[in-house]
Amino acid sequence: MSANASSMRARELLVAAPVIPVITIDRASDAVPLARALVQGGLRVIEITLRTDAAMDAAKAIIADVPDAVVGLGTVLTPDDLERAQKIGAAFAISPGYSDGLLRAAAAGDFAYVPGIQTASDLIACVTAGFDVVKFFPAVSAGGLAALNALSGPFPSVSYCPTGGIGETNAAEWLAHPKVVAVGGSWITPASAIAKGDWQGIEMRARAATKLRG
Ligand code: 3PG
Repeated sequence: MSANASSMRARELLVAAPVIPVITIDRASDAVPLARALVQGGLRVIEITLRTDAAMDAAKAIIADVPDAVVGLGTVLTPDDLERAQKIGAAFAISPGYSDGLLRAAAAGDFAYVPGIQTASDLIACVTAGFDVVKFFPAVSAGGLAALNALSGPFPSVSYCPTGGIGETNAAEWLAHPKVVAVGGSWITPASAIAKGDWQGIEMRARAATKLRG
């Protein structure tokens, strides 16, 4: 798959799922009930971050046991992470930044991949490599919507998935931006709710999130 095809596939996934729960999971045994709660609440496309030892087992368990979930891996930092994501059958991978190695590996793979950007230089690198759907991270502290507006000028073909500092109070504003295909965030699956097994609370937050795009 080329970089353009990888980005196109990413765009299709994100357009269909404008709010992506960004999940950090400490116990793999929480993965399946958590994913069921999200799907039940209307959020099928989910990101499991590779920030914990349990992340890979959690993603594998969801892929095996929650067929309605579309599982991506996040915090993908190396080509090796990307390969692991493809091997377990994840639907996509997303990074907080990019490297030449990641862009090359993603362009050579058969996979939806979303590199992360923060600056115009990052965009030049990603767009030149053929990726025009990017994560804008950390969205709020990197300048918020004003920064996104400014970046949209020189890169009209690029669509964004902002994450970092987005929650239920500001997600709708981001989603109203014409260049934003989806937003991601951890607010739907807070660590405290996962620790308590509050699947009903997570389902309710997911359901509220489905109403954010006007
Ligand atoms: C990510 O990796 O996308 C972010 O950590 C999510 O940011 P948030 O915790 O501020 O939602």
